Amino acid sequence: MLAYRHAFHAGNHADVLKHTVLVHVLDHMAKKDKGYTLIDTHAGAGGYSLLAPEARKNAEADRGIARLVARDDLPAAVARYVELVRAFNPEGGLGRYPGSPEIARMLLRPQDHLRLYELHPADLQNLAVHHAGRAHTEVHGEDGFSGLAMQLPPPSRRGVVLMDPAYEMKADYTLVVGSVREALQRFAEAVVVVWVPQVTLLAAQQLPKRLTNAANASQRGWLHARLTVQPPDRQGFGLAGSSVVVINPPWTLQAALKQSLPFLAKALAQYDGASYALEHHEPKATNAKRR
Ligand SMILES: C[S@@+](CC[C@H](N)C(=O)[O-])C[C@H]1O[C@@H](n2cnc3c(N)ncnc32)[C@H](O)[C@@H]1O
Repeated sequence: MLAYRHAFHAGNHADVLKHTVLVHVLDHMAKKDKGYTLIDTHAGAGGYSLLAPEARKNAEADRGIARLVARDDLPAAVARYVELVRAFNPEGGLGRYPGSPEIARMLLRPQDHLRLYELHPADLQNLAVHHAGRAHTEVHGEDGFSGLAMQLPPPSRRGVVLMDPAYEMKADYTLVVGSVREALQRFAEAVVVVWVPQVTLLAAQQLPKRLTNAANASQRGWLHARLTVQPPDRQGFGLAGSSVVVINPPWTLQAALKQSLPFLAKALAQYDGASYALEHHEPKATNAKRR
């Protein structure tokens, strides 16, 4: 039984990093007219109330998106993401937060396709209500790791994968690596975005390296962005920050994050040791061809 509910965490520092990257990737995909498919393997509920008891329990958004939404000095990539969060709150303020399916709804064009996977019955129900019946959209109440393989390669040969598990089960760390490897075997050009928690568990600490190794083995470029905002708690638990690994990143992403990460590390810091890191690797074979 899945216990994780993203409603308790929506709009936190991890969402800020992940969704800033996602928005940049989807904007980049839209620079070409040809349609693409977005496969969101762990979709969550779609949209979230930030006023609901779940969101207010630990008020995670107060230390995430709420620190950004009223600022007018945001770096371009962060400003673009915040613009979408503001658009999701047409009445003003910050009562609602768009999860990845709602970000997709705002950015996908009529020629683009959306595939959502979610296992939690309540979140699935929410997705079904808000997304089923929309053109070119499928909502699957199935395992996103195995569902991904069935979606690749996408018919238009342009595709983005968002893999954002809750890592509730330790097996998720291994499943992520296995399904990213398989995805690259089926469709080496996929732009793959994987969110990784920064926690003390060894499997979590090793995951970015395992993912970049998978990209190297397929001779694909990659980018790894880390944002650390708080120390682990006394028991060594807690989400100190998170990483996003992007395989086949848009060529504009590195510069965008070089500007955004120092800003976010400062704006979202919960202690003096807040920091960021940005690594990027472009294999020789793809140097000549800019995505
Ligand atoms: C971190 S949340 C997703 C948040 C969402 N991607 C966003 O950015 O707004 C992870 C979700 O994955 C769901 N989940 C867990 N295991 C899954 C699986 N094997 N396949 C599909 N969904 C799963 C959980 O129920 C949870 O809603």
